[in-house]
Amino acid sequence: MRIFSGIQPTGRKHLGNYIGAISQYVDLQEQGDPAIYCVVDLHAITVKYDPAELRERLYDTTAILLASGLDPEDCILFRQSDVPEHTELTWLLAGTATSHGDLNRMHQFKEKSVKQRELVSAGLFFYPALMAADILAYNADLVPVGDDQRQHLELARQIATNFNNRFGDTFTVPEWRIPEVGARIMDLKNPDQKMSTTSDNPAGTVYVLEDPKAIEKKFKSATTDSGSEVRRALDKPGISNLIEILSVVSGRSMEQVEADFEGQQYGSFKVAVAEAVIEYLRPVQEKYSELRADEAALEAALGAGAEKASAIAGPIVAAARDKMGLGRPVA
Ligand code: AMP
Ligand code: TRP
Repeated sequence: MRIFSGIQPTGRKHLGNYIGAISQYVDLQEQGDPAIYCVVDLHAITVKYDPAELRERLYDTTAILLASGLDPEDCILFRQSDVPEHTELTWLLAGTATSHGDLNRMHQFKEKSVKQRELVSAGLFFYPALMAADILAYNADLVPVGDDQRQHLELARQIATNFNNRFGDTFTVPEWRIPEVGARIMDLKNPDQKMSTTSDNPAGTVYVLEDPKAIEKKFKSATTDSGSEVRRALDKPGISNLIEILSVVSGRSMEQVEADFEGQQYGSFKVAVAEAVIEYLRPVQEKYSELRADEAALEAALGAGAEKASAIAGPIVAAARDKMGLGRPVA
């Protein structure tokens, strides 16, 4: 089973990224044939950015992934812009298998475009086609992601199907893997919104590399709901989110968490969640500093990954090109 996923080099990866995506990458790396993980810098250029900072954040993200347990012996870890097949295939798919109307329906484009103060780039609109190219260039069977990527994955499946119908069987139609618990970690301050780097209130987002004291403070000030029972309910999004977080980071079911905190106050529950999250992130934080300090080693790991990635994507994209009647015919 071939596994592929991508993560943006925003550097400031948060608890939602970690629980929803990174921990799945680590769990799956040995099952992949192979498991391929890509730091998607070409996606990151679709909103305003600084070139020097992009490189820094790329190293940050790579070091976080390695510190979390990705092992270049067990998986392929590489930088998207090192493998030109991603950009080429985006155009091939955009020209023949991607409908403008489908791109226009993407929630994430709508959300991100209203946040742009200056230019809303055509690349932001094309973002899901690049994502489809990432996946299809490897004929991936399975794509581990958080819940917010469901619509993009549906589109990638549609694009693969459209291409195959028009040019003959070429691409694998990928399945997604969205975790049952932790697929949508919510903002601690506004539990009606997903946790994200661009949230309005910085106190609502907990970062993977955040200082334990700051993490504790954020959980203590998390928005809780009326009532006093530690129990999930539709009208208790704040407490429900904290129960979900504690369930994942402590390896207990949500029912068990509710049972363990029966009769306890919100205050002591929040402290317990904070402590468990701090312990959960501690090993990653400890390994991170050492790995991040050695940029040459990070480059070497990414370079070796890119070679392995190219060896897989090259022939798949060449076959697509040939079926489309482009380039010199393949004998
Ligand atoms: P990004 O940082 O946008 O590249 O996202 C990387 C991965 O994290 C994707 O698989 C997302 O679905 C996942 N993700 C992002 N935000 C959350 C969240 N709040 N809860 C769970 N997963 C998330
Ligand atoms: N769009 C994804 C996100 O924001 C990142 C991504 C890019 C991705 N290419 C991918 C995820 C391919 C899975 C597969 O989280």
